[in-house]
Amino acid sequence: MPYETITLEKEGKVAVITINRPDKLNALSSTVHVEGVAALDELRRDDGVRVVVITGSGEKAFIAGADISEFEGKTPVTQRAVFQERTLFNTIDTFPKPVIAMVNGFCLGGGNELALACDLRICSENAKFSQPEINLGIIPGGGGSQRLTRLVGEGRSMEMILTGDMIDADTAYRFGLVNHVYPAAELRAKTMELASKIAEKAPIALQLAKEAVKFASRSNLDEGLRREVDLFAICFSTEDKREGVSAFLEKRKPEFKGI
Ligand code: COA
Repeated sequence: MPYETITLEKEGKVAVITINRPDKLNALSSTVHVEGVAALDELRRDDGVRVVVITGSGEKAFIAGADISEFEGKTPVTQRAVFQERTLFNTIDTFPKPVIAMVNGFCLGGGNELALACDLRICSENAKFSQPEINLGIIPGGGGSQRLTRLVGEGRSMEMILTGDMIDADTAYRFGLVNHVYPAAELRAKTMELASKIAEKAPIALQLAKEAVKFASRSNLDEGLRREVDLFAICFSTEDKREGVSAFLEKRKPEFKGI
């Protein structure tokens, strides 16, 4: 399906969605949300795709936030409705395959919230992160105050959200906001290397692992441990579990089929 604001490519078992509005620093317009959700629906049904990478077009920005021009004229009711629709943030969060944010520059506001909804974040040395909504007289509305706080802790999240200041890639790494930092020229190769490695794992186990880890910040420990055992037990119903165990015992590489 042709898209106007994103591009979609596949490299082996990895799909790459690129937000493609470089003249607007890839700002998240409502069309980007609709098309991004549609692309993810397409990839959800594609058994050949095991991992999704999301990035921004050009060398300057991953995503410079929500499209501020769309804020004009919005009432509380209409703006609330926008974020209650199927946003990219929540679609990524509950997507059944791993999603990696490949952050190649400014990662601001809704851009940071999108990266936070992903399962892993990898950035270039020139990346900059912030939740600058406070400078517009508003607060994060796409999960920033919740997901950022869970990932980096209240003190760091509070400072980023109250000041709106940008942090650099090294600080983001120190905060645990990103998993890896690479020189810009190596970012894509390194990200694809990691994505391809994950793409070789058992797809059902990947889905259940993502669900289990995400549940950790949504539950107390007892509930989380119960959920983990249930998800662990589901793995024992899969062909891939039989293949993984047999391959280990037969000293060969497993070939997972997603069944
Ligand atoms: N929404 C809509 N348009 C945006 C945008 C956003 N979030 N961020 C950048 N743009 C547009 C600019 O308006 C400009 O468009 P124009 O050429 O038609 O005037 C274009 O992208 C380039 O941005 P510009 O500001 O000229 O680049 P810069 O290098 O001087 O500054 C930033 C880069 C990221 C510091 C600056 O663009 C910025 O502060 N953007 C807004 C960030 C923000 O507050 N995001 C959170 C929104 S809730």
